[in-house]
Amino acid sequence: MIDKQSNLYKQLQERDQLHVLKFWDELSAIEQDELTRQLESIDFSLLDEFVNMLQQSNEMSQEIEACEVHKRCECNHHQEVGEAMIRKGELGVLTVAGGDGTRLGWSGPKGTYPATPLSGKSLFQLIAEQIVYAQERYGVTIPWYIMTSVSNSELTKSFLLDNNCFGLDRADIFVFEQKQVPTLDEHGNLILNTKSSFVTNPDGHGGIISGLQQSGALAEMEGRGIQYLSYVQVDNPLARVVDPIFLAMHAMDDDSSNEVSSKCVPKTNSEERVGVFCKKDGRVSIQEYSDLTDEQASETTEGELTFGAGSIAIHMFSRAFLDQIASSLPWHKARKKVAALEGECNAIKFETFVFDVLPMAADSLVVQVKREDEFAPIKNANGDDSPATSQALQASRSRRWLIEAGIDIEDGAEVELSPLSGASPREINVSEIPNPIKSGQQHVV
Ligand code: UTP
Repeated sequence: MIDKQSNLYKQLQERDQLHVLKFWDELSAIEQDELTRQLESIDFSLLDEFVNMLQQSNEMSQEIEACEVHKRCECNHHQEVGEAMIRKGELGVLTVAGGDGTRLGWSGPKGTYPATPLSGKSLFQLIAEQIVYAQERYGVTIPWYIMTSVSNSELTKSFLLDNNCFGLDRADIFVFEQKQVPTLDEHGNLILNTKSSFVTNPDGHGGIISGLQQSGALAEMEGRGIQYLSYVQVDNPLARVVDPIFLAMHAMDDDSSNEVSSKCVPKTNSEERVGVFCKKDGRVSIQEYSDLTDEQASETTEGELTFGAGSIAIHMFSRAFLDQIASSLPWHKARKKVAALEGECNAIKFETFVFDVLPMAADSLVVQVKREDEFAPIKNANGDDSPATSQALQASRSRRWLIEAGIDIEDGAEVELSPLSGASPREINVSEIPNPIKSGQQHVV
C-alpha cells in the first residue's frame, strides 16, 4: 500500500478519493508504480476547484452588447501588405490537434483522418500543403506549431515522419503536448478506467496558452522572429492557414496591430448552435450558444441578427500577446459518457477554451468571411458537420475557385483543388491546370 504517512495518501484521504487504491493489492509492482505516478501528477488544488464547480450552478450570463464586425477586405493593397509581412518571416502557424475526437469516432489522431473528397488527403496533409505552397510562393520558412495530447502525441509525430512531413522540414515543426486533467463523476470522484489508472482528459483547446508558454514554443518563435500566429483547428479542411489579407487586417487596424483577430460567418439562422461575437464590459468576447437567451438569439438590429456573427474558431494572434497572458483561463464543464472499469459512466470533463483569451486583448478585430470559402468542419461521424457534409463543401469550393480563376469545368466532372495549387482564386496557377476539365472524369489539380 502507498505509505499511509505519505503526503499523497493524505491528500487522497482528505478528499475521499481513496477508492482509486481499491485494487492496489492485486497490482503488479509496475502497475503500482504507474498508478503512483499518475496520482502524483494530480494538481490537488485544481481538483478542489473542479469539485467546487460541480456544486455550483452555471454562472449567470453577463450583459452582452453587439460588437463591430469588419468585412474581409479583398483589395490588392491588403494582399500586398500581408504578403510582405509573410516574406519577412513574421508568420507562424498554430494548430490545435489534441482533442479526443470522440464524436467522429476515428481510431487515430483526428489530424490523420482522410478528409478530402477525391484523393482522401488527411487533415494534417491539408495544413502541411498550404504551408509548403506558401513557403515556396513567399520564399520563406513558416514554422508549424502543433498541440497534441498525451494520447495522440506519439502517433501524430510518427504519422508526420512516415509521410515525410508532407514536404515540410521536420526542424520547422514543433509538436508539444497539452496537459491532462482529471475527469470526475457527478459526485466529484476520480473514475478508475483500469485497476491501475483513472480517467483524465486533455485540458481543452485553451491549453494552448500554457502549452505554448511551458513547452518553450513561444521562446522558439521569438528566436525565429515570428510576430504573428495563424491559429486553426485541425478539423476544418477549408480553413485558410496562410491568409495574407487576414494578416494585413490584423496588423493594419488603426495604425496599430491588434492583439487578436478572429474570423466569423453570419449565422444561418437564430438557432444555429455556434458561439457568437459580442462585447462584454467593452471587450470583444465570444458568448457560447448555450449562454445566449432566446431573446438575445433572435434579437435583430436593422434587419440583421444582433448577435449573428458566428465564430469559426480561426484567429490571428500577436505572439507578444500570447507571451504576456499571465492569468489562467476559466474552466468549463461538459457532461460526457466515458468508459470506466465498471462500465460506461456519466462524467464531467473540465476544459478551457482558447476564445477566453479574447477579452484579455486590448485591441481585437472581428472579420466576416464567406462561410462557403472557409468553414466545413468535421465533427460528427454522420449528419451535420460530418465527413459527407464537409466533402460536399470542399468539392463546391474547389469548383467555384477554379471557375473564378478562369478554368472551364464541364458538367459531370469532379474536381479537388490541391492546396499546392494556390490558396485563393487569385493565386491559382492556371497554366498548370487542364482547361477545360472534362466531363465524366475525376481531377485532383
Ligand atoms: P472540439 O472541441 O471540437 O473537440 O475540438 P474534439 O476533441 O475534436 O472532438 P470531440 O468533442 O471529442 O468529439 C476543436 C479543436 O480543438 C482541438 C481539437 O483537436 C480540434 O482541433 N482540441 C480540443 C485540443 O487541441 N485539445 C482539447 O483538449 C480539445
